[in-house]
Amino acid sequence: MVDSLYDWSAYDWSAAIRDLSMSAHEEIRRITAPEIRARKGGEPIVCLTSYHAHTARLVDRYCDVILVGDSLGMVMHGLETTVPVTLDMMILQGHAVMRGSKRALVVVDMPFGSYEQSKEQAFASCVRVLKETGCGAVKLEGGCRMAETIAFLVERGVPVMGHVGLTPQSINTIGAFRAQGRVEADWPPIEADAQAVAAAGAFAMVIEAVAEPLGRRITAAVPIPTIGIGASVACDGQILVLEDMLGLSPRVPKFVKRYGDLGPGIEAAIAAYAKDVRGRAFPGPEQVYAMAKPAPAPLKPKTVISG
Ligand code: KIV
Repeated sequence: MVDSLYDWSAYDWSAAIRDLSMSAHEEIRRITAPEIRARKGGEPIVCLTSYHAHTARLVDRYCDVILVGDSLGMVMHGLETTVPVTLDMMILQGHAVMRGSKRALVVVDMPFGSYEQSKEQAFASCVRVLKETGCGAVKLEGGCRMAETIAFLVERGVPVMGHVGLTPQSINTIGAFRAQGRVEADWPPIEADAQAVAAAGAFAMVIEAVAEPLGRRITAAVPIPTIGIGASVACDGQILVLEDMLGLSPRVPKFVKRYGDLGPGIEAAIAAYAKDVRGRAFPGPEQVYAMAKPAPAPLKPKTVISG
């Protein structure tokens, strides 16, 4: 038997066979932005973030949309805000998520500073993201102030997901990550933002951290799907940051429901590994390579004695 570099004992063969037989029978096709747009008022749209190929592979099996969020700055890089995230960081992780997934619509966040200056700057940045990652759409923050840019992008073939309510890239002007629209007097500008994003041609919009009745009201009022995060169960879809819902993030906002508690399990595994290394219990005989068996000596040609 050939010595394999990998231990396949923990591999999910049934999922692999299912994937393989799917690809034999039908070509797996990506969900498109117009398909998401058409789901207004229909079956809820399931979205999660992912920044890596391995998590993208898992998320892809269950989600309609994978967002490569600029939250990667905080989750992967330990930054305090998303403000320092660059276009190159988004493109690198967007490419990884595209390699790991094959069915979901992959949406890549436009980072702060890459699209606000002008419509032309936004278009040039979006073209880089679409060409260099192969993703199907981009997301950008802002309502009325970004409407002209969204229209410019959509007219030129860039599918845009909007983002209204709490817009974390504006942290330095808003002062704190806090829920929006908790008094009715604050609703009109947020509603105007949502209407402007829809009118500009966005195929969907994220509504982040708004009072529940406002999230519900916007969803009823706009013609495109709303994707809620700390908004309302009435939204057309929901999104969470994967690490937050898995219990891997040290601090999470109120709107996060923890669907897993992976932190203690990972810590226990690391502690067991450290103990094994210190006790010279790892690697064991199964994890090391034996010497190759000597190759059999070549057969000697028969000597023919003539005469
Ligand atoms: O960056 C991100 O992950 C996001 C979601 C929280 C919507 O924008």
